[in-house]
Amino acid sequence: MKKYAVVTGATSGIGKSFAVLFARRKYPVILIGRKADVLEEMTKMLSRISGKECIYLAGDLSNAGQVEKIAKALKKYPISFFVNNAGFGTYGPFLGQNEKQVEDMIAVNVAALTRLSHAVLGQMQKQRYGHLVNVASIAAFMPNPYGSTYAATKAYVRSFSEALYQEVKNSPVTVTILCPGPTKTNFGKRSGMGRSRFFVRMMSADKVAWKGYRAACLGKRCVVPGFLNKLSVALVQIFPKNIVLKVVMWALTPVKKYRKIRKLSLNRAFRL
Ligand SMILES: NC(=O)c1ccc[n+]([C@@H]2O[C@H](COP(=O)([O-])OP(=O)(O)OC[C@H]3O[C@@H](n4cnc5c(N)ncnc54)[C@H](OP(=O)(O)O)[C@@H]3O)[C@@H](O)[C@H]2O)c1
Repeated sequence: MKKYAVVTGATSGIGKSFAVLFARRKYPVILIGRKADVLEEMTKMLSRISGKECIYLAGDLSNAGQVEKIAKALKKYPISFFVNNAGFGTYGPFLGQNEKQVEDMIAVNVAALTRLSHAVLGQMQKQRYGHLVNVASIAAFMPNPYGSTYAATKAYVRSFSEALYQEVKNSPVTVTILCPGPTKTNFGKRSGMGRSRFFVRMMSADKVAWKGYRAACLGKRCVVPGFLNKLSVALVQIFPKNIVLKVVMWALTPVKKYRKIRKLSLNRAFRL
């Protein structure tokens, strides 16, 4: 019998694409998210596709107590794949960002991912099988002026997961970091980054999920989907930091029609 494939942040975007991909490969899927009604509908759809009973665990991953409940609930399920995908970004000059949103972002992107990795890796080591996929971003490779805290959370995911990769390397368990670039999901709109030059060209969520799945099956350490994303990551490692910072800030500046909004947010941030 196939073991479970678990996806956090499965209600939309890359997480949803992962969930459908697993269901098509006949895995029973466990969805984790906070919108119970959406998850309920999705589990019905995925059960039809996979022919297996799919379930969901509802919880807000910015809440440590709810993350703990999910980590405990997962103990009863043998897991083949676990995709730590849930996450979101905050955007704009640091001083203009909402403090509570930044706090919640760190809780979801960093704290919940760490806790769930701990719970799931232990289980995979015991069962001597399993693939953990942690979703970072190309932002993990470069500081992001106007996306400072978001990029820092993703740098954490990358560093943390690279270390885990090495720790489990000689075991039947694998750890893979998926580092997407701009992708067509709710992320751009929700964070506001969709207004920036970075998001002029985007990949499909299905393609990103497929690349992540394939890399996990091959036991790869890290995958950056898409030629332009790979090129950006290579270039930031060659160029001096002051040039990288200027270019990334330019790329993250809202495009022309949004200049007014940016000016307003800069004014608010610096109380001009
Ligand atoms: N799209 C991009 O350009 C891009 C680029 C690089 C990396 N990424 C990363 O890819 C991952 C998936 O994002 P996406 O692009 O697919 O965006 P998305 O469509 O906005 O999906 C994000 C998912 O995370 C969930 N989530 C957010 N906060 C949560 C919370 N407190 N508790 C539980 N679930 C929560 C969302 O659930 P709700 O529907 O309940 O909010 C949603 O299911 C994220 O880690 C993101 O940082 C995205």
